Amino acid sequence: MFVVKIGGSILFDKEYQLKQKLLSNYAKTIRNIFSESKKKCAIVVGGGKLARKYIAVTRALGANEAYNDIMGIEAAKLNARLFIGALGDIAYPEPPNNLQEFHALFNVTDKIIICGGFQPGQSTNAVAASIAEIVTAEKLLNLTDVDGVYTADPDKDPNAKLMKELAISDLISLIAKQTTKAGQYPLFDKTAVQIVQRSKIVLQFINGSDPENLMKAITGKPIGTLITH
Ligand SMILES: Nc1ncnc2c1ncn2[C@@H]1O[C@H](COP(=O)(O)OP(=O)(O)OP(=O)(O)O)[C@@H](O)[C@H]1O
Ligand SMILES: [Mg+2]
Repeated sequence: MFVVKIGGSILFDKEYQLKQKLLSNYAKTIRNIFSESKKKCAIVVGGGKLARKYIAVTRALGANEAYNDIMGIEAAKLNARLFIGALGDIAYPEPPNNLQEFHALFNVTDKIIICGGFQPGQSTNAVAASIAEIVTAEKLLNLTDVDGVYTADPDKDPNAKLMKELAISDLISLIAKQTTKAGQYPLFDKTAVQIVQRSKIVLQFINGSDPENLMKAITGKPIGTLITH
């Protein structure tokens, strides 16, 4: 059982247009890996630029952070529906609203359940971590818009180096330096990392701009950053 977090970061181009071709390639890859090989998986999709855009407006109009997070949750659910639409009959038709709903569904359907956000105060990475925990996943794959975890944010520090492996304690220290607000839980949030640590979840960060990378990670090829316990 694999849990695949697809970062909303990879869904939109610079002009805020949806990458339709990438979605179509993902649908083919996911069908290949999970439908034909009978491996089971659950997918969590992030909010990406859609969430940031909506949150920027509600925040500017004076909404509180819990409400802004709800905007992000709904945006992530809309992004989840892109994958539900693309996967057709192999996907469960509705994104669950919370972990209990997910768990109940998981026990009665063989279809791929595709989630967006669950609750304010946490990111879709925390959704993915709690799903991985409740189903005792063999791996949690975090597909994002960079090659893995760097020594510093590669968008801000040109000297940042990609790390092939990283101890969970070092990931925690890295994240501790970040501040979070609705729509901005870069890389991985504190709630998510704590769940990964307490249940020793096998977590790997990979670049999701190419669906082939998902295939590589599933088949155990060394790629991205592996978090060790
Ligand atoms: N040490 C780090 N290593 C790698 N990336 C980092 C690091 N610190 C911060 N980041 C930032 O985290 C970003 C990825 O997180 P971001 O939340 O933007 O995307 P995502 O989680 O894939 O998408 P979404 O949140 O929409 O699901 C990278 O683009 C990078 O700029
Ligand atoms: Mg994120």
